[in-house]
Amino acid sequence: MLLDVEAVTKRFGGLTAVSDVSFGVNEGEVVGVIGPNGAGKTTLFNLIAGALAPSAGCIRFADADITGEKPHRICRRGLARTFQIVKPFGNLSVVENVVIGAFTRVRHRSAAYAEAERVLGVTGLTRWRDAAARSLPIGLRKRLEVARALATRPRLLLLDEVMNGLNPTELTAMMALIRSLSASGITILLIEHVMAAVMTLCGRIVVIHHGERIAEAPPREIARDPRVIEAYLGEAYQSERRSQPATAPRCWRWTTSARTTLTCKSCTA
Ligand SMILES: Nc1ncnc2c1ncn2[C@@H]1O[C@H](COP(=O)(O)OP(=O)(O)OP(=O)(O)O)[C@@H](O)[C@H]1O
Ligand SMILES: [Mg+2]
Repeated sequence: MLLDVEAVTKRFGGLTAVSDVSFGVNEGEVVGVIGPNGAGKTTLFNLIAGALAPSAGCIRFADADITGEKPHRICRRGLARTFQIVKPFGNLSVVENVVIGAFTRVRHRSAAYAEAERVLGVTGLTRWRDAAARSLPIGLRKRLEVARALATRPRLLLLDEVMNGLNPTELTAMMALIRSLSASGITILLIEHVMAAVMTLCGRIVVIHHGERIAEAPPREIARDPRVIEAYLGEAYQSERRSQPATAPRCWRWTTSARTTLTCKSCTA
């Protein structure tokens, strides 16, 4: 097991944001984390990536105990994350933002730039390499967030809502990027509210509700789980499934009208 989260709890004063959560991620998997707003998903990522220390429990990565370790040390081990609220250095250019990530692995400026150019190619950002990060629209900022993390050469990549706010074209491109990263051997753990994407990309989904892990299963089972439907997916989702019993699970908000076309029902209504 590449990542092992064992009985992890995080308390903020009287609020238990993450409560006794356990799950694991095997090398090569794409695992989704879903749950309502405020469920504790980002807090869980903060604990795994070292931004917060757990109140209880243990986190192991690549056979090492990383519980409470500093973020830069965890990153050096090969665990990188993106931020839900994208945080580029706005005054710096796109390539300079990625170079900062590359310095995690290489010492020399020329090597860092070479690595950054490679990552810009992988993420489709080469055209914008000299643009100021702050000038990018949200779709490209999300991409830059992924690029910065990739430049640290992760074995495990934590993606926190990288598909939120993207238009259908950007969403399709981001899904393709995630698939290609997975195919290149990077293990992926992703938090996402865009259900059509989660259901399509992930082999397994962990559901968090009020800080607790309430379910963990492959997408098809998650889509049928009454606890998950009640806590998160909602009645609309269930009735949509009944009216479209066929193949892939459908979301209450997003529906896949063709393999590559995602339509937001609330937008087209
Ligand atoms: N640093 C903090 N101090 C105090 N409370 C916090 C802190 N970080 C998060 N919380 C609280 O912990 C709970 C879980 O928040 P978290 O951001 O992990 O939710 P989330 O599942 O990521 O939600 P969303 O889907 O909206 O991003 C919330 O009640 C939040 O207000
Ligand atoms: Mg969050």
